[in-house]
Amino acid sequence: MRLFAKGRINKGEKIIEVVSNYDVKSLVISSIKGGVGKTGSTMCLAGAFAEMRPDWNVMIIDCDSQANTSIALGFNPAEHTDNCLLYDIFDDPKNITLEDCLWQTKIPNIYLAPADRGLYQKEAEIQLHGFSAIKETRTILRDKVNEFKMSAKKNWLIMFDTRPDLGIFTLNAYLASDRVIIPVTPDEFAFQGIKIVDKTITDIRNGGYNRDLRVLGIYRSLWEKANSHNTRLAEAELATFTGNAVFNTFIPNHVSVRNAMRERLPVNFHAKYKNTDVSNAFRSLMEEVMGRWNTRVDMTRGSEAGVQEMRRSLSS
Ligand SMILES: Nc1ncnc2c1ncn2[C@@H]1O[C@H](COP(=O)(O)OP(=O)(O)O)[C@@H](O)[C@H]1O
Ligand SMILES: [Mg+2]
Repeated sequence: MRLFAKGRINKGEKIIEVVSNYDVKSLVISSIKGGVGKTGSTMCLAGAFAEMRPDWNVMIIDCDSQANTSIALGFNPAEHTDNCLLYDIFDDPKNITLEDCLWQTKIPNIYLAPADRGLYQKEAEIQLHGFSAIKETRTILRDKVNEFKMSAKKNWLIMFDTRPDLGIFTLNAYLASDRVIIPVTPDEFAFQGIKIVDKTITDIRNGGYNRDLRVLGIYRSLWEKANSHNTRLAEAELATFTGNAVFNTFIPNHVSVRNAMRERLPVNFHAKYKNTDVSNAFRSLMEEVMGRWNTRVDMTRGSEAGVQEMRRSLSS
């Protein structure tokens, strides 16, 4: 039998290597900017993958205290009170497993590890307990994912939706994951955080916290079709990435994504929108993500002076 999914579990001071019989891949959608489509993309890319690979399961781990993905996938903490939440894993990591938290969404092969606003409270507790609590907390999800890999009875894609920050839950997602994709919108401030995210990923890898973690690239999110000034500026910013950092597919800004989220479905599972350009864009981006999984991505940008000059010339 093929052996997949190497990982490490902390056992006290010791770190043990684990292997699984099934393929378990993990992907974070992350940006330190809010409103760039992280949540919409997480659920729609999950939908696209679930459709493309019906023999795989998808797990979405909602690491955002605002619980937008959980709500948009139909989870209501007040109603589903017998279901464990991400909070419970962080509250009692010795006894609660990822399986305990999994909630089956309306899509048969998509499961959710739900968040609620309790994560805000948990974060405050961790901060108040100081450095030792932060140190203990940052590897919790990594250990849970590795335990999950050991017991997986199927191939899984694990996706993390994250907050627009590099706080304890985002770092947990980074430490537990293989790959990161970064959405950018055609806005003035959308590009500023990319370097910070990329540097953090490099630090995590070089620091030995997760040697498998890599950025897979940047994708255009909430993109405007019209050749507006904002889009031209954003394309010029993207053109300063000199390697293969930018995905070809762009995700349009289209009301169907909002509507599908309101109706608690990924857009490609919505009867009205499943055959639209927007659904196809998520399918195509997911194909690109899987297609470049093992490709080395070059995140190099042109010189800072060149980038500044480009901005000056375009804004004058
Ligand atoms: N491709 C899209 N087209 C149109 N609206 C979108 C799209 N993706 C997300 N949205 C909507 O835009 C808003 C911000 O998106 P969201 O995914 O919540 O961003 P983030 O998670 O980065 O804060 C939400 O109201 C969401 O429904
Ligand atoms: Mg969000």
